[in-house]
Amino acid sequence: MPLTQTQIEHLTHAAAQAAENAYAPYSNFFVGAALLLSTGEIVTGCNVENASYRLTTCAEQTAIAAAVATHGPAIRIHAVAVANRAATPCQPCGACRQTIAEFASPEAIILYPGPNGAQQQCTLADLLPATFKLL
Ligand code: THU
Repeated sequence: MPLTQTQIEHLTHAAAQAAENAYAPYSNFFVGAALLLSTGEIVTGCNVENASYRLTTCAEQTAIAAAVATHGPAIRIHAVAVANRAATPCQPCGACRQTIAEFASPEAIILYPGPNGAQQQCTLADLLPATFKLL
């Protein structure tokens, strides 16, 4: 189901708020993510970097881990908003796309900052047409 303008604004605002909590002393790229679950609940996350760079966790993955920890393994993600403090155009990275796909259908909506600071919208299938699946 498409998001209303109010839902888009609410979710984007939640992602931007989460970016304020990011721990990104190495990249200085402060990212926030907000998930809209099928229950209507919103769960947020931010990137958490590490001196051993590859141990960094992206905002989307932090949000998903928080959602599972809070609401359990049956969560379904209806939409994801991503924001960063610099309003730099930014879509979820490849690993995050696969992580979102674990809990979302191909029609799930992804909101992200595009060129000129304008909010862009696409589906998960647009970003990841071929998900790796075992189930
Ligand atoms: N980052 C995210 O949090 N989400 C993405 O989808 C792309 C990248 C973070 C990881 C790292 O802390 C910083 O942005 C720079 O790559």
